[in-house]
Amino acid sequence: MEFYDLIKTRESIRDYDPDKPVCEEVLKRILEAGRLAPSASNRQPWTFVLVSSNKKLKETGECYPKNWFKQAPHILVLVGDKSKSWVRSYDGYNSIETDLAIAMDHLILAAENEGVSTCWIIAYDYEKLARAIGLKENELIYCITPLGYPHDGFKKRGHKIRKPLEEVVRRI
Ligand SMILES: Cc1cc2nc3c(=O)[nH]c(=O)nc-3n(C[C@H](O)[C@H](O)[C@H](O)COP(=O)(O)O)c2cc1C
Repeated sequence: MEFYDLIKTRESIRDYDPDKPVCEEVLKRILEAGRLAPSASNRQPWTFVLVSSNKKLKETGECYPKNWFKQAPHILVLVGDKSKSWVRSYDGYNSIETDLAIAMDHLILAAENEGVSTCWIIAYDYEKLARAIGLKENELIYCITPLGYPHDGFKKRGHKIRKPLEEVVRRI
């Protein structure tokens, strides 16, 4: 899809058909887009945990109380390791959240380009999710998204609800 059309038409989708899994080649292309994302000092302090097995989907589904979430055939969990990300020497600022957000954006836009629906989610039960995915020491979860396709007949909202450009741009 043309890049600006993709930006305009991507939406957070809250409708997933459990019987429509994403095929392996498409999953790989999406994950590859995350792998190629930039990060401070090229540290790549991330792991993309792809949940697809029924057992783990059930456990992961318990971490966010929405039925549409529990129906997704895949859940992608973005995990970062703060000890591996870049730290600014002047003040100790750690780039981990920025790095992980960029990776997530790459993954979500790549998914959209493949016709795969996503919804960036952070309002999950962190502890439950950490247990469900077997989070390792030093690792933190930054965000998750379902990956899948809506039920037949689902229609996107079709327009963006955003502040006007004049309100968000300051030219000096
Ligand atoms: C950092 C971040 C966290 C979000 N967390 C949630 C969430 O927990 N649950 C949810 O349903 N949507 C979540 N969203 C989706 C936003 O509500 C959505 O992106 C926003 O309303 C704009 O809509 P659009 O993505 O359809 O353009 C999140 C988005 C971002 C960027």
